[in-house]
Amino acid sequence: MMAVRLFVLLLFVLTSFRGSISIPPHDEVARMARYIVHESDWCSMATIPTQESIQGLPFSNVFSVSDGPLEKGTGGPYLYLTPLEISVHDIQANPQVSPAMTLAGTDYCSKQKFDPQSPLCCRVILSGRILAVNSTEIDVAKEALFSRHPAMPDWPHDHGWYFAKLNITNIWVLDSYGGIKTVTPQEYYKIKG
Ligand SMILES: *[C@@H]1O[C@H](CO)[C@@H](O)[C@H](O)[C@H]1NC(C)=O
Ligand SMILES: *[C@@H]1O[C@H](CO)[C@@H](O)[C@H](O)[C@H]1NC(C)=O
Repeated sequence: MMAVRLFVLLLFVLTSFRGSISIPPHDEVARMARYIVHESDWCSMATIPTQESIQGLPFSNVFSVSDGPLEKGTGGPYLYLTPLEISVHDIQANPQVSPAMTLAGTDYCSKQKFDPQSPLCCRVILSGRILAVNSTEIDVAKEALFSRHPAMPDWPHDHGWYFAKLNITNIWVLDSYGGIKTVTPQEYYKIKG
């Protein structure tokens, strides 16, 4: 009898885990930040605009991003940029940016019926500077981006695409009720990907 009960309990536990998406516990904020960054294939990214018409006003745009091949995240978001792009004009004048990534970009929030603005629809906001990737790191950046964005190698070859990365200086995480939390880059990079 006991064995049957245990078996039923085990079956229940197994079936309730199967199909559910496992996100890190809400109190492990640095892990949550790494999780969101790794899961994200794209971000919204604010730059400081150079456009005459919006001097001193915010400007955000959408970018493809990858911190590494699936299950091999580095925490460091890589980007593939062209100097022809409007936000890249800003980055060339001032590399300070603020990307935001959300699990609304995955199917987590819709499956859980969390509105994108709900604190339960976990998101991370970063601040930092865009750096060009040097020759020793290019292979890592290329594998990170091209494995997650198979269209990238075919982007117009005369556009001067280059690999870049974000040097993260500030991290904010909203992953539950009770307000936004901060994580230091040290805490963030300590987490194993
Ligand atoms: C290239 O960048 C990596 C990571 O930032 C760094 O560890 C390495 O020393 C750099 N190599 C060169 C040649 O600058
Ligand atoms: C990256 O940011 C850190 C501050 O978090 C700074 O100390 C470091 O010099 C920056 N690295 C580069 C290459 O700009």
